Amino acid sequence: MFHVPSLSADPATFHAELRAQLQALLGDERDLVANLANAAALIWHTTPDLNWAGFYLRRSESELVLGPFQGKPACVRIAVGKGVCGTAVARDASVLVEDVHAFPGHIACDGDSRSELVVPIRHAGRVVGVLDLDSPSLARFSQADQEGFEALVRTLEACTDLRSVS
Ligand code: SME
Repeated sequence: MFHVPSLSADPATFHAELRAQLQALLGDERDLVANLANAAALIWHTTPDLNWAGFYLRRSESELVLGPFQGKPACVRIAVGKGVCGTAVARDASVLVEDVHAFPGHIACDGDSRSELVVPIRHAGRVVGVLDLDSPSLARFSQADQEGFEALVRTLEACTDLRSVS
């Protein structure tokens, strides 16, 4: 049985603890779906003030497809370049949106979302998916959160077999 830890409120400590928890949770397992599913569950149960946490995978050059997640059922396909997720892929960079209503082309899967953070997942120098986090609060995610979740994604990339994404 996995004990869901209660993590520190201080952002730097929180993210260091979250990375350590992810590493311990994944252990030697490298399966793509298993690791993304457990990462989504860990984030969901430890990160305050989220209404969606999960992954989209780049199943072809031009399209993302819904992967493991926690939260309400979500849109399945997002074109590269569209929405916050597709923009992060096209830019090959994280996208932090303080107010989703002010982001042109934001795709509203859950009407409760007010702010969003999307972090690219890379394999062999190519973006193969994204971590997508939504919050019902405006400006939920800070620069420290962006850097913390980018470091978490680096840990996930190192622990996971990403060759089978596309
Ligand atoms: N808001 C995202 C779509 C995915 S949902 O948030 C789960 C976007 O604009 O790409």
